Amino acid sequence: MKAFLLITISYVVQCWWDVGHMMTAQIAKNYLKDNRPDVLAWADSLVQDLNSLTDGKSNTFAEAAVWMDDIKETGTAFMNDWHYTDRPINPDGLLIKLDDQLRNINSIYAINQAVSVLTNTKTAKNRHTMFKAQMIRVLLHVIGDMHQPLHDTTFFNSSYPNGDQGGNFMKVQLENGTLVNLHSFWDAGAFAFSPNNSFLVRPLSQSDSEYLNKWSLEVISKYQITKYNNIDMTNPTVWTYVGYRQAVQFVYPMIASSNNYNKDYTQQAQQFCEENLAIGGYRLAQKLIDVFDQIVLNEAKLKFED
Ligand SMILES: *[C@@H]1O[C@H](CO)[C@@H](O)[C@H](O)[C@H]1NC(C)=O
Ligand SMILES: *[C@@H]1O[C@H](CO)[C@@H](O)[C@H](O)[C@H]1NC(C)=O
Ligand SMILES: *[C@@H]1O[C@H](CO)[C@@H](O)[C@H](O)[C@H]1NC(C)=O
Repeated sequence: MKAFLLITISYVVQCWWDVGHMMTAQIAKNYLKDNRPDVLAWADSLVQDLNSLTDGKSNTFAEAAVWMDDIKETGTAFMNDWHYTDRPINPDGLLIKLDDQLRNINSIYAINQAVSVLTNTKTAKNRHTMFKAQMIRVLLHVIGDMHQPLHDTTFFNSSYPNGDQGGNFMKVQLENGTLVNLHSFWDAGAFAFSPNNSFLVRPLSQSDSEYLNKWSLEVISKYQITKYNNIDMTNPTVWTYVGYRQAVQFVYPMIASSNNYNKDYTQQAQQFCEENLAIGGYRLAQKLIDVFDQIVLNEAKLKFED
């Protein structure tokens, strides 16, 4: 079975699908609920500040993690480059042109930008501004994206002299014969995140919210945070580098040998994605804690100066 082919027309997708993003946020939410309810209350109220300006599909903490994809669909392009950092995989050492995206405006920039807006000392006395309401949604979304390895890389060889756009130009053949874009396959958590079209559709119903919550608690207990004592929890550059390495070591090799494509492959990919959701959720929670503590510190300093 031919496992993937080069295609000429491609539908470019750039996100963990909705479910991946909602899970990352829900995991962070549950972690904060137990450990830093003050941080959750602040972050959640900031999320809700934007609700009257959205389409009603991103009004909760978990749903708001998808907002950055929603605005792309309405043609709002100004943050399009914020979703990924395309570090090149270039096994044949081709002479390649690195574009501005990698050097300047990327997912690392997005996180740093959001943190600097949220902790801006000029607005320290006011924890709520419209800009902050947008930037908290950037954190919820982009930290999720960073944990989809194909948001951290693009692959070059002579078949893909201009890169494969993070797997968007490669195709995977599923067992039932359907061809899917490699990037989409991973965005969909190897279909663990989208078994069918009616799975966790926004706005979430009461029972869907409960399902999401229950699933997030399962993932939290399966991949407990104490397991990750030794991984980086603060530096988004490191996170994208780890994602890049996962693509080098796991995602692309799996495709290269996918004559063996089978249930094991899907199962492995699903587990891999699930663990990345847990780690992404913990890192999101920690980033929100760091930002909040910085704000409190800034406020204390201002009071002292008054
Ligand atoms: C480029 O890499 C892809 C994916 O591993 C592979 O299928 C293809 O044969 C490679 N092209 C060349 C010219 O080596
Ligand atoms: C093949 O499987 C995929 C993933 O489960 C599904 O989306 C697609 O509709 C299936 N195609 C057919 C022809 O059954
Ligand atoms: C969609 O998938 C979920 C999860 O596997 C399942 O609970 C639900 O019943 C499915 N819905 C339909 C319409 O197939």
